[in-house]
Amino acid sequence: MIKAAVLGYGTVGSGIVEVINTNKEIIAKRLGDVLEVAYVLDLREFPGNPVEKILVHDVDVIMNDPEVKIVAEAMGGVEPAYTFAKRALENGKSFCTSNKELVAKHGAELIRIAREKNLNFMFEASVGGGIPIIRPLIACVTPENILEINGILNGTTNYILTRMTEEGLDFNDVLREAQQKGYAERNPEADVEGYDACRKIAILSSLAYGGQVDFEDIHTEGITGITPVDIEYAESMGRAIKLIGRASNKDGKISAMVAPMMLSKDSPLYAVRDVFNAITVTGNTLSDVMFYGKGAGKLPTASAVVSDMIEEAMKYGENVKILWDEKKLELAHYSEIENSFFVRLSKGEDFDEERVVKAFGDILQVVLESRPDEYAFITPVMSEGEFLKKYESFENRLNMIRVG
Ligand code: NDP
Ligand code: HSE
Repeated sequence: MIKAAVLGYGTVGSGIVEVINTNKEIIAKRLGDVLEVAYVLDLREFPGNPVEKILVHDVDVIMNDPEVKIVAEAMGGVEPAYTFAKRALENGKSFCTSNKELVAKHGAELIRIAREKNLNFMFEASVGGGIPIIRPLIACVTPENILEINGILNGTTNYILTRMTEEGLDFNDVLREAQQKGYAERNPEADVEGYDACRKIAILSSLAYGGQVDFEDIHTEGITGITPVDIEYAESMGRAIKLIGRASNKDGKISAMVAPMMLSKDSPLYAVRDVFNAITVTGNTLSDVMFYGKGAGKLPTASAVVSDMIEEAMKYGENVKILWDEKKLELAHYSEIENSFFVRLSKGEDFDEERVVKAFGDILQVVLESRPDEYAFITPVMSEGEFLKKYESFENRLNMIRVG
């Protein structure tokens, strides 16, 4: 029997216990042993819940039990998760987590400590919920020079954008639904302002390029500025607006950003709806591969955590190499990143079309009959810095969205 502990009995933590109970026999067969949750740590009581019998409030009970070999964390936040992760590894326990804040901030160090202790620090659920993406990056695309990663990395915002587009629902109403379904972060600002997707693209690019990509260095925009009118424009062009995390390596220059983008039907990410996430990875010899699945929610996320617990149980005492050095990788400044942009200007009395054409060059005008008071267009590809200078010279600007 292999004893494990679960830290945090919220959406994901309770899902971990449920997945292990539901698939007990399958897990035992694949592992060749029984995976038992010996302790659950939480701040709250759970009267009447079977978990009561194994519930503890003092983490020392877990840390000091030498029979516990695996600790799975689903509390969220950097502290005390970071302290608990270090203590678990120091005390001979492999550690896994769904907590992207912890992984983005301290992943490199925890990977090193795990290596020094011949244990493992795993984090499959920290990006893309139930989608296997971390393991493929570590173990499958190893021969590749990774040129680009593009992902819909946040389930809450994809759910909101889908329902706003398909049902014309109000942003705040749909956000409330996403919270009720257990998709959103404790502070949903992390979802809607793009901070959650930012941490996820930081994790993916750290793994892809082998060094520390600091999330603080990544230019990040969320979806709070997207209006029903923007969605109407996108639909009129056969496009969909998605929150995209992108990292790329152009001749050794690594860049990353998070922003809403208008995708065409040709994009493999165009049809990714609802709480689903998808990530495309482009390798120099592999070309494109795509990973798709539920990006948030209790059981899909928990299943990914349990996959780490099983691997850690199978490989107890043997470190699985993960290349993520603590040395910081310098990113290209975001003003150098190139994009094409959809722009909306209001047509006041002194609107001057010639000035727009002169500023932006070879534009493609987009006409929405219901918006005769607006001038909308798509720019040619240019750097973010160049675009911003031009865009900000127009006082009648309404909105801009990158075209992916
Ligand atoms: P919840 O808020 O539902 O659950 C967290 C649980 O941990 C709560 O029961 C909380 O108790 C408990 N907790 C918090 N601090 C402590 C502490 N110091 N000691 C003991 N227990 C503690 O969060 P989720 O389950 O949704 O998310 C957990 C982590 O997984 C987060 O990092 C999140 O980003 C990540 N994640 C979530 C997904 C999802 O779909 N929900 C998907 C992928 C990742 P209390 O409520 O009393 O504070
Ligand atoms: N709040 C996150 C999301 C949870 O909506 O994607 C999964 O990381």
